[in-house]
Amino acid sequence: MEPEPIPDLAEATALARAARRVVVLSGAGLSAASGVPTFREAQTGLWERYSPEQLATEDAFRSDPELVWSWYQWRARLIRSCTPNAGHLAVAAWQRRLAASGDSLTIATQNVDDLHERAGAEVLAHLHGSLFEYRCADCGAPAEHDPGAAPEGDAGSAPDLESMRRVAPPSCAACGVGMLRPGIVWFGEMLPAGALERTLAALQHCDLAVVVGTSATVQPAASLPYAALGVGAAVVEVNPEVTEFSTAASVHLRGAAGQVLPALVRAYDGPHGHHRPD
Ligand code: OAD
Repeated sequence: MEPEPIPDLAEATALARAARRVVVLSGAGLSAASGVPTFREAQTGLWERYSPEQLATEDAFRSDPELVWSWYQWRARLIRSCTPNAGHLAVAAWQRRLAASGDSLTIATQNVDDLHERAGAEVLAHLHGSLFEYRCADCGAPAEHDPGAAPEGDAGSAPDLESMRRVAPPSCAACGVGMLRPGIVWFGEMLPAGALERTLAALQHCDLAVVVGTSATVQPAASLPYAALGVGAAVVEVNPEVTEFSTAASVHLRGAAGQVLPALVRAYDGPHGHHRPD
């Protein structure tokens, strides 16, 4: 059966073919088809079911470290059991293709998972940190920690906070007093050093940005596509829903990243591969 045609794909393909420096700005929707829950979607979003005030602030961690640590360990194990989907693979393939012709595709993600990397892509910036990097909540020393594997068949079930098995965060080997915390950005915290600056620098020189799978609500990440527009670059949005950004986008490809991105990269390659005229 032929796949459904994607409206405006030809327009987005023309922009992709003309671009020598592409920046991909990704959000939770890109990892949704891998089984990683998004944040704000009705029914399935994590912030529909859990309260960010209880789980995603420094105060929450200080007042109940076991609860917060255990919840993030659940998320880390869940992501470990997931694999990259066709959307991640398409971005990685496009990055290789552009690099091979002396051009570039740069990735800045709000996602705290490692699915871009596991798809074989190189990521310039994890704007909201990573679930797999840890540091001491007191002295800041980086630390290694293995979240372990999810019990067979149980990775996807979101825990009930009341009955969740609670584990205390390990203490820091460097200072001996602090507790380890996940290296993610909690509400009210700064972005990782340099992440925003590196992303803005890449956007300054891009001719196309592709913003995929984000509700475009969390600042400062939500304003990054406007930085691309500000330098005259085109911005293609990939999202099945309309977002705050949609009316500003050059093209809105309304569909799931796992279908749209592979279709875009296939169309970019064309039936005989894409050769840029010199
Ligand atoms: P949200 O949950 O706010 O938005 C997810 C977006 O993905 C929505 O606009 C969906 O329509 C879209 N979407 C869903 N399925 C999709 C699919 N298959 N393909 C493409 N798009 C799809 O997630 P983010 O915008 O990433 O912060 O959230 C931003 C930040 O809020 C997160 O990084 C997180 C959270 O608090 C931290 O972890 C610090």
